Amino acid sequence: MFDKMKLWKNNNDSIDLQDRIDNIKAQPIPEHVAIIMDGNGRWAKKRTLPRVAGHHEGAKVVRKITRFANQLGVKTLTLYAFSTENWKRPKMEVDFLMKLPSEFLQTFLPELIEENVQVKMIGNKSILPAATLKAIDEAIQSTAHNDGLVLNFAMNYGSRAEIIEAVKNVLIDAQSGIIDDEKLTEEVFSSYLMTNELTDPDLLIRTSGEIRLSNFMLWQLAYAEFWFTDVLWPDFGEEHFVEAVEVFQKRQRRFGGV
Ligand code: IPE
Ligand code: IPE
Ligand code: MG
Repeated sequence: MFDKMKLWKNNNDSIDLQDRIDNIKAQPIPEHVAIIMDGNGRWAKKRTLPRVAGHHEGAKVVRKITRFANQLGVKTLTLYAFSTENWKRPKMEVDFLMKLPSEFLQTFLPELIEENVQVKMIGNKSILPAATLKAIDEAIQSTAHNDGLVLNFAMNYGSRAEIIEAVKNVLIDAQSGIIDDEKLTEEVFSSYLMTNELTDPDLLIRTSGEIRLSNFMLWQLAYAEFWFTDVLWPDFGEEHFVEAVEVFQKRQRRFGGV
């Protein structure tokens, strides 16, 4: 009897979720969703597991949410995977995080190719370990001809470093006469950022209850809608993504107008 009740409840929940998915799909879906995937360490700690167990679990969620975002018709999904400040962590954890892309892509890349996903990366490639870079570059190259969801990894990414790099390149171009102060509009400046091929995020999600940006897309998030949840990244599921989109669709974006 108890099991039947449970089954009935689960079925009912999944029907509810399908209804909610149908509803959000009937309205404009945010084109670019950016996620600060936070809380892996705390997820592991709660289970008395090493922090890296949380990162391992978090990678599975990346797979699930990528598929789901693709199904919903999201055009770009940017995932904050490693910040320029994350090098401060213990070497063992950093090493694990640097190995994660190759492990993840080894199993996931065929599926990404199959599902028409294009892999991209923003961040400073120059100090990534060679094996990490090789795995990411392979994924970028072998999905370059795809034209479905853009899965953009922010890896060794820091927004301030990105802006400084852009300013340096503007200065170089100014010296050679390619640009001058009159030509430097917001749009032109955006083209100097690592996100130059992407639209700005419409929706920012951060998990784990932290209400901050931690040096993530400071320029690009100027008019994004923010949605924060206490859910830890390894516990993040389709239902939470749906909730974020529901909230997004109820917001009125004014962009400074009335
Ligand atoms: C996010 O989880 C993953 C990375 C920053 C690489 P954390 O590792 O920051 O998890 P918490 O915040 O310590 O719980
Ligand atoms: C932000 O999370 C970076 C990533 C999710 C990759 P952190 O856990 O590093 O941020 P802080 O230290 O809490 O600000
Ligand atoms: Mg954290």
